[in-house]
Amino acid sequence: MKLVSVVGARPQFVKAFAVSRHLRPDHEEILVHTGQHYSDDLSAVFFDELSIPDPDYNLGVGSDTHGRQTAAMIEGIEEILLEESPDIVLLYGDTNSTLAGAIAASKLDDPIAHVEAGLRSHDRSMPEEINRVLTDHVSDLLFAPSDLAKTMLEGEGITDGVHVVGDVGYDAIRWARERAADRSEILEQSALEEDNYVLGTIHRPKNTETPSRLTTIIDALVAAPQRVVVPLHPRTEAPLREYGLWEAANRGLEIIDPVGYLDFVHLLEGAERVVTDSGGVQKEAFYLETPCITLREETEWQETVDCGWNRLVGADQEALTAALETDSWPTSTPSLYGDGRAAEKIITILENDDRD
Ligand code: UD1
Ligand code: UDP
Repeated sequence: MKLVSVVGARPQFVKAFAVSRHLRPDHEEILVHTGQHYSDDLSAVFFDELSIPDPDYNLGVGSDTHGRQTAAMIEGIEEILLEESPDIVLLYGDTNSTLAGAIAASKLDDPIAHVEAGLRSHDRSMPEEINRVLTDHVSDLLFAPSDLAKTMLEGEGITDGVHVVGDVGYDAIRWARERAADRSEILEQSALEEDNYVLGTIHRPKNTETPSRLTTIIDALVAAPQRVVVPLHPRTEAPLREYGLWEAANRGLEIIDPVGYLDFVHLLEGAERVVTDSGGVQKEAFYLETPCITLREETEWQETVDCGWNRLVGADQEALTAALETDSWPTSTPSLYGDGRAAEKIITILENDDRD
């Protein structure tokens, strides 16, 4: 089987790694990096740490408006698909790189498999929600992480080609957990004690581009009694400066550069709790049994909320402060997103797929 896999942003390197390491021994994978993420600490560090082979193609599109960025990716991906004529195009998650792959492949009538199909936040102001919906509607094989995701697809009339396989992000965490504990020195380097700090990540446009939301979040984090460590996504630095929050954030929080995956997993596992607006971090926190406080009003990982490990506080200072203080979190984790073997299931389904 010949596959073209399209990746471009940090979370996709992790997801593609989880599938690729089982795929590569028996199949030909052509890896396309759109170049959406290009800074070393958002891109190269993942390729190094996870031993992901160098991309066969790097489109180097970089940052731009959504339209121009996506257009440049579509143009580049189309050329590659015409050159490579793959049996299937493999797409991950919900970024502009995912959507570009979906548009390019569907226009050429190349079969598409979407990993993380059926996730819905029901917030159409999120660029990711548009990317997910559009990608699912042109995909031939839809790999859903949960029954809820399958139900979401059914609700939109998508029933053919849907397979509930679990979350490839869980596969990755299972691979990384022990390694991170063995190899990461981030706690020692930062003089952090396990269960004695809060980890924070902020990068959603809704939070970074709304001054009142970012101010409320920073104020609440600065006021937290715990140490708060924030590996800062590069998009968040400019608004912190623009809204006059940079000094206070640097005084009250421990702002560090984004870290590699193993360091991040180690930080997340050791944290007393995590405050985040990330998609991936919410369920990684659940896998690592770290209570999660989510700076959003809704989530596409609803099961983590329903079982009590994740609290949606939006940018409400009172709710965030209460969640930073409470000790009332669950003590056990149900099985929500598979058994950690989603990648193998995906490959078996791809191998046995007999659509023309
Ligand atoms: C993108 C995804 C988002 C995902 C996130 C993962 C879309 C629409 N957004 O958001 O779904 O959660 O990646 O981290 O696809 N920048 C750098 N270096 C880089 C890349 C970006 O400094 O390597 C800065 C630039 O200032 C850029 C900004 O970050 O303008 C935003 O980058 P972009 O790729 O547009 O979106 P993300 O916020 O990274
Ligand atoms: N991550 C990382 N280093 C960091 C922050 C996050 O390795 O400093 C990893 C995290 O473990 C997860 C992924 O990046 O696998 C999540 O990426 P992000 O939050 O940027 O994107 P989202 O999941 O919201 O699309």
